[in-house]
Amino acid sequence: METRSFNPPVRTLMGPGPSDVHPRILEALSRPTIGHLDPAFVAMMEEVKELLQYAFQTENPLTMPVSAPGSAGMETCFANLVEPGDKVIVCQNGVFGGRMKENVERCGGEAVMVQDAWGAAVDPQKLEGALKANPDAKVVAFVHAETSTGAQSDAKILVELAHKHGCLTIVDTVTSLGGTPVKVDEWGIDAIYTGTQKCLSCTPGLSPISFSEAALEKVRNRSSKVQSWFLDLNLVNGVLGRWRQACIPPHSAGKRALRSARGTGDAERGGAGERLGASPEQSPGTQGRPWKPWASPLS
Ligand SMILES: Cc1ncc(COP(=O)(O)O)c(C=O)c1O
Repeated sequence: METRSFNPPVRTLMGPGPSDVHPRILEALSRPTIGHLDPAFVAMMEEVKELLQYAFQTENPLTMPVSAPGSAGMETCFANLVEPGDKVIVCQNGVFGGRMKENVERCGGEAVMVQDAWGAAVDPQKLEGALKANPDAKVVAFVHAETSTGAQSDAKILVELAHKHGCLTIVDTVTSLGGTPVKVDEWGIDAIYTGTQKCLSCTPGLSPISFSEAALEKVRNRSSKVQSWFLDLNLVNGVLGRWRQACIPPHSAGKRALRSARGTGDAERGGAGERLGASPEQSPGTQGRPWKPWASPLS
């Protein structure tokens, strides 16, 4: 078979993701490969962690990129926080709430669905009804911005309700992070994941996650092993406070993609970063819908 190099056509990407990647980030991808235990790599991971803490607006020490796309971030949250028999309330108003249900069931949990129409935001009153009807629920999960319709839900209120009823929260911000405010610590989100290829304008293939201390407490005290070795947060050094505090996963990390995330982080800090804290009203174009990515944050 004849093999040729692949030269992708130049396109202007206008969908919800992947989005265009700045030449500076593409250049970062061409730099040499180093080992994942190389001190230079470990130092870079620490920087990526700090930049992600900034992007998520959190001080959670367990903030790191999973070396796989957004779906792996989703699986990391469910695989670590759901044990067989756990009841999880999943709010669904589009495609990705359905994937959350799949995750709960594949972890051996019971999904209690709170359905809203596609295009509508998650209704807090319906969630409260489900919480009252299911006092044994352990986790509430929802998508902040449903990519399938563009509907954005009020994450702060949904998290408040979940906590009022003693539940941890899993929040999908694959489409929202960087396009509309996401404040992990202020809103009290317990487990959050995103993807690098949407509003962060990075390459696809990484899934930044962040876990609160309450969520990690649950991970440490599980009565069963996490069913996925690759995604088991107990194997990340920082979780057990072992070796060093850095969040170093036990596998070869996706170094090139990480380097591109590092490049994106620079751009976030240097330019559009202030938008992360902006209110939706101040963020032109969002108006309750997170579609409009930052106006050329990387240029
Ligand atoms: C809301 C939401 N969650 C999860 C995912 C899965 O992300 P990925 O395609 O990077 O695996 C997507 C992807 O479009 C998404 O929009």
